[in-house]
Amino acid sequence: MSADHEIENLSHENRHFAPSETFARNAIAQVDLYAEAKADRLGFWAKQANNLHWHKPFTQTLDWTNPPFAKWFADGKLNISYNCLDRHVEVGNGDRTAIFFEGEPGDSRELTYAELTREVKKAANALTALGIKPGDRVAIYMPMIPEAIIAMQAVARIGAVHSVIFGGFSAESLSSRIEDADAKLVITADGGYRKGKASALKPAVDEALSAGKCASVKNVLVVRRTNQDVAWVEGRDVEWSEAVGNASDEHEAQAFDAEHPLFILYTSGTTGKPKGILHTSGGYLTQAAYTHKNVFDLHAETDVYWCTADVGWITGHSYVAYGPLANGASQVIYEGTPDTPDWGRWWSIIEKYGVSIFYTAPTAIRTFMKLGSQIPEQHNLKSIRVLGSVGEPINPEAWMWYREHIGGGQAPIVDTWWQTETGAIMVSPLPGITTLKPGSAQVPLPGVSAEVLDDEGNILGRGHAGLLVLTEPWPSMLRGIWGDPERFKETYWSKFEGKYFAGDGAKWDEEGDLWLLGRVDDVMNISGHRLSTAEIESALVSHPFVAEAAVVGAKDETTGQAIVAFVILRQNQIEAAGSDSDVSKILRDHVAKEIGPIAKPRTIIVVAELPKTRSGKIMRRLLRDVAEDRPIGDVTTLADTSVMQSISGKLAGGAND
Ligand code: WT7
Repeated sequence: MSADHEIENLSHENRHFAPSETFARNAIAQVDLYAEAKADRLGFWAKQANNLHWHKPFTQTLDWTNPPFAKWFADGKLNISYNCLDRHVEVGNGDRTAIFFEGEPGDSRELTYAELTREVKKAANALTALGIKPGDRVAIYMPMIPEAIIAMQAVARIGAVHSVIFGGFSAESLSSRIEDADAKLVITADGGYRKGKASALKPAVDEALSAGKCASVKNVLVVRRTNQDVAWVEGRDVEWSEAVGNASDEHEAQAFDAEHPLFILYTSGTTGKPKGILHTSGGYLTQAAYTHKNVFDLHAETDVYWCTADVGWITGHSYVAYGPLANGASQVIYEGTPDTPDWGRWWSIIEKYGVSIFYTAPTAIRTFMKLGSQIPEQHNLKSIRVLGSVGEPINPEAWMWYREHIGGGQAPIVDTWWQTETGAIMVSPLPGITTLKPGSAQVPLPGVSAEVLDDEGNILGRGHAGLLVLTEPWPSMLRGIWGDPERFKETYWSKFEGKYFAGDGAKWDEEGDLWLLGRVDDVMNISGHRLSTAEIESALVSHPFVAEAAVVGAKDETTGQAIVAFVILRQNQIEAAGSDSDVSKILRDHVAKEIGPIAKPRTIIVVAELPKTRSGKIMRRLLRDVAEDRPIGDVTTLADTSVMQSISGKLAGGAND
């Protein structure tokens, strides 16, 4: 958490932006939403759930008799994919565009709701033909192309459970996730386009499945995107174009229980082993749809929505693959990176498709801010009417730049706080109601109950920083950690009896707006991506050169936090390897291979010793002081108080980038 004086400065923000009268009048969410939810929270959620189609209506809203294991709408039955697709076609919206796909090389493709429904039905039939049954796990490792969404929807349609693994994760990460979930099928592509070239994916799948690993996998279904050469395992590998291409387009969606599992998504915790966050069906879709509509003020007939998140993250699940489709929205999907062929790419896409709602991460906004407003100024961004931010706190300066240069000085910005675990947005302004305040995520949404507590669990009022908790269950809450109910209880529900501990520091300001102050645990946030210090430490010590490692997240102007690793080397190993090359480069590449390029430390600092307490616990707080170039804090609890002197001397002598 930031130092006290910084929190003070942060949460005294005098700039306020009320919605325009026209915006407020035409907004989807009107102010009585808060009153309604307050008067009858469960009734409110039941009403939101009834915006979905239930094959069998539910009679019970919440079963919280066995906390922390919640059941929402438990006696109801529905089909997720029917709700996202067929029902829009049935009411006559089949010709509405569901997806405007923009490939990085400049190719594009449009899919109407009727076409997308047809593709998903074919894919569902193909999956069934491959032996996938309700409850089976399917791993998805794909670029951002329409088939990624088709695959997710098809898996959901037949009641199977997907585990999407971000395409930037390594073969190693992929195989441990496949094994943890015992996936039967992997859906992948030859590759995708990134940064102006074809980047391969299939080889990582082949490696993940090699040498007897991932024995649960029977088939690999391969989409051809780049047409690069790929190795082929006969009998295991299946062409998407054949299996899906030749499948029947008739498929009637079956109803599944509201609590039927929908997906697992792995995210970093405080240990070396990622957690498989489990989400189920009815409650998840209810809140994804409700928040997508109200937070972004979605007018489905006229808006063009674009969320830049990859489907490998929760944002790409709730606000690309599910929420927008449940609401019948038209959305843009972009395959590539924002700098290709040049830094104007995103703005040219907004101009081309007339994007009216745009949702991205603060790290991207800060990057654009640095590059200068002359880039977006070359494009017509007049279509923009709502902007969203997610993944980390957005600093007021970036907020102002976003509103001014992307939002034409008027678009409301919704800063949305939530987590992989919460499944959907929890704290956010409502654009037609809330008077906006740059830098604050503002207030819990109608239906959501949050508090800030001190360490003893006392509720803190305005003006005090503490720990953010959610005090009531919510429909899209995680239902557990795959295969580890104890870790689920321990991580989220043990710190404060009966309350969900989010792991974030927070503070209500004097006006009752919430400020998020970053993680209070050993989880880092790099460009809005979550990584654990322990995970990177264990990757580092798996290299023969490393005896010990300690990783911290240091403040970084662009990425929010950056990974800084302190390592103790095994000199004899380095000498034995005859390696005179750059040890730091070797270790950074090793981490990229173990976890993925996003986990590469920015800086590796070689030290002789690490600061430890007498009980042997590494004092990361002190290492953060070094990494952020601050005076070193209190060292009196160290076993050896001289260690810090030698470390900071080391840094002055030779940090590397
Ligand atoms: C962590 C969750 C939610 C989807 C993307 C990240 C941080 C997220 C905000 C925000 C301040 C935020 C928190 C949270 N975070 N949104 N608007 N303001 N912090 O999902 O990988 O599960 O990470 O991201 O620290 O705990 P995630």
